[in-house]
This record gives sequence, C-alpha cells and structure tokens, in this order.
Amino acid sequence: MRKAPGPPSLPLIGHIPAFRRDVLGLLAAGVRDYGDVVRFQLGPRPVYLVNHPDGIRQVLKTNARNYDKNTRSTRFFHDICGESLLTSNGDEWQRRRHLLQPAFHRKAVEGFTSIMREESDTLVARLDGHGEFDASSAMMRTTFRVVARALFGADLSDATINALEEPIALLLSESFARHGSLLSWKSRAFTRAMRQLDEGVATVLAAPRPETDVPDLLALMRIGDYSAVDLRNEAVTFLLGGHETTANALTWLLAYLAVRPDEQTRCARDPDALGRALSETLRLSPPIWIIERHAIGPDEIGGFSIPAGVSVVVCPYTVHRHPDFWTEPDTFDPERFHAALPPAYIPFGLGPRVCIGKEFSLMEAGIIAGTLLARFQFSPVSDSPPVPDPAITLRVRGGLRLHISPRSDP
Ligand code: HEM
Repeated sequence: MRKAPGPPSLPLIGHIPAFRRDVLGLLAAGVRDYGDVVRFQLGPRPVYLVNHPDGIRQVLKTNARNYDKNTRSTRFFHDICGESLLTSNGDEWQRRRHLLQPAFHRKAVEGFTSIMREESDTLVARLDGHGEFDASSAMMRTTFRVVARALFGADLSDATINALEEPIALLLSESFARHGSLLSWKSRAFTRAMRQLDEGVATVLAAPRPETDVPDLLALMRIGDYSAVDLRNEAVTFLLGGHETTANALTWLLAYLAVRPDEQTRCARDPDALGRALSETLRLSPPIWIIERHAIGPDEIGGFSIPAGVSVVVCPYTVHRHPDFWTEPDTFDPERFHAALPPAYIPFGLGPRVCIGKEFSLMEAGIIAGTLLARFQFSPVSDSPPVPDPAITLRVRGGLRLHISPRSDP
C-alpha cells in the first residue's frame, strides 16, 4: 500500500494558509495534480481527500462502520447544536434516526406541500412591485418559515425571523473559520449569537401548534421522551440544517438562471426542466460542499493507506467536477440530467447518514422556484459572476442581488 500523495506544505502549519485563502481552489488543485486520494496537512492534522466515487462509496456506505463523525467539523457543529441527529454516533445516532425518520416519509413530506405553497405565495406577494431584491436573504427567510411550520408547527413572526438571520450567519461562518485556525476559541459575538439563537428556538418550541394527521418532528420527539435539552438540540439542528441548505440551493439556481433567459423560460413552463436545472445547480454548487469523517481503524482506498485516526473528507464540489465522469464539468448544462445519475453525484451524501431531508428539500425547492418563475423574470444586477463562499454551507459571497420583473412570456 502506498502513502497518498499531496501538495508540498509548510512546516507546522501545513496547508492552513492555502485553506484560509481559497479552500475550494486548494482541493480542486489537489485532485487535479495528485488524483483521487490526496493528503493535506492542516496544522498537526493529516486530512485525506477521497475523490473517486468508488472510494467515496467505501467511506460513506460499504465501510461506513469504520468512519464516524468524531471529527473537528462535527465538534464545531456540536458547539452550536449539541448532541443531535447530525452530531451523534453509533447507537445514539441509530436511535435518533429511527425515531425521527417518519417525519420525512413520503406521505409526511407530501403533507407539507400546502405549507410550501402558501409560503411561496407569501414570498411572491412580498416581491411584487419590487425592481430588485436580495435573493439570498429572501430564500433564507422563506425556507426558515417552511421548516419551522412544517416540522415544528410554528408560524413565526417577521420580528423573530429578522432577529435570527444575522446570528445564524455569524455562528456558521465563525464555526467554519475555526477550521482554518490552530486556535478554537469562541468570540463574544459568537456567545451573543448563541443566546439569540436559543431565544428564537424557544419561541419555535413554545408556539401554538395546529392539529395534524401525521405526527410532525416535534410530536415524534415528544413520543421518544426527548429531554428539554435534546428537544432544543434537535430543533437547532433541523431549523439550521433544514433552511440554510435549501436556501443556498435556491439562490444558486436563481443565479444560474438569471444569466440564461431561455433556460429560465423553459423552467417556468416545464417542471421537468426545472428539476433538471435544480439537479445541475446541486452539482455545480452543492450546499454541503464537504463531508468529514474520522477513520476509526486503518483502511485502504484506491491502493493508498488510510491510517487509523485521520480525518477523511469527501468533497461534493470536486467530485461533481471529476473529469472522468462529467463532460465540460464547469459548464451549467441541465440537459446532462436526462441520463441516469452517475455515481459521482452526491449532493445529499450517501449511505446510512444520507440527508434525512432530501425529499423534503427537493419538493420544497421545486415548489418555491416553480412559483417564483411562473410570476417573475430574474436578471443579474451585477456583471460579475457570483462567487462561492465556502463556509459550513456554500453561500453566494455577499448575497445575490437580482432584478425582478413580472414574467412577460407566461
Ligand atoms: C438542498 C438541500 C440539502 C442538501 C444539499 C443537504 C445535504 C446533506 C448532506 C450531504 C448530508 C450528509 C452529511 C454527512 O454525511 O455527513 C445531510 C445530512 C443531514 N441533513 Fe441535509 N441537505 C439538505 C436539506 C436538508 C433539509 C431540508 C433537512 C431537514 C429538514 C436536512 C437535515 C439533515 C440532517 C438532520 C442530516 C444528518 C442526518 C444523519 O446524520 O442521520 N437537510 N444533508
């Protein structure tokens, strides 16, 4: 077995400066220059990037028992959401997944479509008459409202949502920034944002809830005898994980369509075309752009040794551009999704820890985007293309401002 190759690194700090400067560029150059298993050094920690679908399957699925979430990134999430479905391991994770899964069964998700439609209509009414808007912020607010209503039965006021937008952005970006640092102290702003988040979550959990046929997530947690702390932790996990990801997917979708008026019109008319454009958006700009695991024991991937204890990462952003599996990987081309999905497509992960909210978010994104495109045309405000901001999720750097006008070619 060979030792995985990797780019030259500086003594002690390794690739930290390159990571801080441009992490996507560092990873993309790594796989371009060194292949499908690349070794990086983040300070004292070796990190192995696995970029071939076979190796990815091995880590996330076939040998998933050897890879847990006892990782640095999970510890940073843990600072925000505590022990939850996202951060737990082993039997504790299994118990939570089994208990909460019914809230995401097809029937349950179909039951949420009326909420998704109502919130999409509310968004349309808000945007009506505007010439320009911040798509990132609008998508964040709408997806937050959807997840709070669907999973927790909470119809939040504008004031509550406004009060949460900034603290959530700060918590996520500061947590990610700690990856590129040898220190892991929390700022005062972080502590303040945590307090604001907890107040918002308490409002969600205390909100009066309508009767539903299928138990929502909160009802399932109560059936499962969750403690008050567990309830808070899971609520933070689902409120954050359930809105930020879908909002980014929608923002990037609008960014791609804004510069392609023909494709935009096609998507406005044809839900299948919209589905393909969404798939292509999730390929080029996967909201979860990196997935980290800790190797419990040693392993071999693609002929390279993976020592016990190291961090192994899978990067949807790079594997979605793997030249062996995608032609013209950097081109936005929804038509490629006429064919079956290749194994190099993993926007929702793979294996036992695959995204629990996959169907929910695809349904939601289709409804919100479909409603918006039926009513409006979008075009860019700036000539410069949007730049990815890889924090915990892949945001558009600085937000996305778009021109908006009533659709003239319905
Ligand atoms: C476009 C939208 C979304 C994307 C791209 C996405 C992506 C992912 C990915 C890649 C994972 C696996 C992470 C890993 O293996 O470490 C994951 C897990 C998870 N996602 Fe999503 N997600 C999306 C929407 C949602 C929504 C809407 C919810 C909830 C309503 C959600 C809740 C979760 C949770 C709780 C987990 C952890 C599952 C577990 O470990 O058992 N996600 N997501």
